[in-house]
Amino acid sequence: MKNKNFKRYTVTSALPYANGPLHIGHLAGCYIPSDIYVRYLRSNDRDVAYVCGSDEHGVAITIKAKKEGITPQEVVDRYHEIMKKSFEEFGISFDHYSRTSAKIHHETAAGFFKDLYEKGEFLEQVTEQYYDEEAGQFLADRYIEGTCPKCGHDGAYGDQCEKCGSSLNPTDLINPKSKLSGSTPVLRETKHWFLDLARYTDFLKNWILVEHANDWKNNVLGQCRSWLEAGEGLQARSMTRDMDWGIPVPVEGAEGKVLYVWFDAPIGYISSTKEWAAQKGIDWEPYWKDEETKLVHFIGKDNIVFHCIIFPAILKTHGGYVLPENVPANEFLNLEGDKISTSRNWAVWLHEYLEEFPGKQDVLRYVLTANAPETKDNDFTWKDFQSRNNSELVAVFGNFVNRAVVLTHKFFDGQIPALAELNDFDRDALAALQEYPEKIAASIERYRFREALSFVMDFARVGNKYLADTEPWKTIKEDQERTGTILNIALNIAANLAVLAEPFLPFTAAKMFDMFNLKGLKWQDTGRQDLLQAGQKINAASLLFEKIEDNVVEAQVNKLMESKKQNELANAKAAPMKDIITYDDFAKLDMRLVKVLTAEPMPKSKKLLKLTVDTGLGVRTVLSGVAEHFKPEDLIGKQVTMLINLAPRKMMGVDSEGMILMAEDRDGSLRLLNPDRPTADGSTIS
Ligand code: MF3
Ligand code: ZN
Repeated sequence: MKNKNFKRYTVTSALPYANGPLHIGHLAGCYIPSDIYVRYLRSNDRDVAYVCGSDEHGVAITIKAKKEGITPQEVVDRYHEIMKKSFEEFGISFDHYSRTSAKIHHETAAGFFKDLYEKGEFLEQVTEQYYDEEAGQFLADRYIEGTCPKCGHDGAYGDQCEKCGSSLNPTDLINPKSKLSGSTPVLRETKHWFLDLARYTDFLKNWILVEHANDWKNNVLGQCRSWLEAGEGLQARSMTRDMDWGIPVPVEGAEGKVLYVWFDAPIGYISSTKEWAAQKGIDWEPYWKDEETKLVHFIGKDNIVFHCIIFPAILKTHGGYVLPENVPANEFLNLEGDKISTSRNWAVWLHEYLEEFPGKQDVLRYVLTANAPETKDNDFTWKDFQSRNNSELVAVFGNFVNRAVVLTHKFFDGQIPALAELNDFDRDALAALQEYPEKIAASIERYRFREALSFVMDFARVGNKYLADTEPWKTIKEDQERTGTILNIALNIAANLAVLAEPFLPFTAAKMFDMFNLKGLKWQDTGRQDLLQAGQKINAASLLFEKIEDNVVEAQVNKLMESKKQNELANAKAAPMKDIITYDDFAKLDMRLVKVLTAEPMPKSKKLLKLTVDTGLGVRTVLSGVAEHFKPEDLIGKQVTMLINLAPRKMMGVDSEGMILMAEDRDGSLRLLNPDRPTADGSTIS
């Protein structure tokens, strides 16, 4: 590990595809961790550029456009705004949020391609690529799905298997199928420009596996090692695609071709920085070119190969750019035991969360950090959400701050009391106050945000326990001075807590600063026991956290279960067709609209209702096996469809003179077949 002092920081988080709203998996994967890191850096007065933007190219966008029947431009315009707003609402404090359709980005990305092209870095190759003859187009990346040759996963994409993380070429897939038409594609010749990654193997091995062997996360090193040490070595990867959505390939003979989305998107970090610097009137170049800049990429594990192998190879070849100092990738967050999936609607959407838990951004930030998938996949459950809120945020953090503030108002009229003589409880609490800031900082600097947050909570526990041990509500009866000392210390712990918690819980910290009349406190102010001084006034206590009841989280679980059901229904297949019959067979059936006159349960039967109906030809009695689907009053007075010439049959001592017809949905539930306007009883159906 290089032990360097950096002058400035460029922090990026993966550009999300602008093809849908954001969910908790996005936040947990790379936006909350990067935001914590950056807020901490700013609190330390470090010079930071925190950049992101929407990833608006690639097949992820064109597939969505096709599905919705709108243009790719409409897709990215819609979701760029939605995502930008969600990030703001959750306090993700980007210095700049750009988009890859921006002109500056097109120019920057095309410039990189040209530079590499002119240096002769690309292998120009005519190869056979999959082509969908029905759709009349080449099938790049996610347009093609098949079985992963490495792990056997069935839904692997043409460029990558998300199950095992392998990076693939479309021709590696077993049983490839076109996503456009479902047909089996054929091979056709086309020219593309490949980056010969094998040439970078030695450089990458040394840079990652030797130089960063001790400071990169194990999950990241592990994936890198498996590519760099694979028997077949690194494969050449095409940096261009046959598509009409994207950045046109800026060389001759490349009509109808665009840059591979994974070539252009990471360059989006640079374009975003340029846009930001221009708006601020400063120079962007030091943020990418100065050796004393620390570049950190926050990503999810499916992005590791692109940020650790391909993008660094591009930067290195171009020259003049710094390489990432670290790439702290997270694993995946699951939801209630199942993989988060946009298409299956198995997700907690950020905009829906805010509607249902207004003002509770910090609760979600807290839970997603406390349970972050830092070293392995993790599971978000509503039960865990509730219990972390109730037993940690409410019972520890909120309770401590609230007691300190409320008691100060009650006993000292909101004026901070003076310190007097200290006892052991006081000295222990003040020792903790000096110890925690460094502990928390050390964890953040190592990208261990879960651990850092657990120390923040431990510090809140110190405060809570201090009040429980010293009992100012009792000492007030005989010793006002002693009580003043306790509350002075408790309030100073709380003020420190606000600064230390700010990277994690920015909304809560802001409320605390308001309560304490404090402004502009920084990390360097922590560890001090005089942030709040005797005689200063504090404001009334404001509610930081509140209990979340069982029924509230149960409703969330039910909502998920409902979407699982809807999804299963949508995917359930219609019943297969029965054998062919002749018209004469059909003509024998006499089906009519009939009116239900009476309906009652059949004694001793769970399934049967006994109905009398008006068939237009007279009144009949029918037994119908619908008691589990309808109550008698659901049917009385309604028209239903009936086969009236079915031979009568005796059931449970009653003659049933026909059969009521109903539609059966895929989940087995029944529907009445009603005419679309009033129709005479006894009308025939044919
Ligand atoms: N859009 C990609 C994804 O969602 C991430 C792109 S990261 C960048 O997986 F580096 F390319 F910007
Ligand atoms: Zn796989």
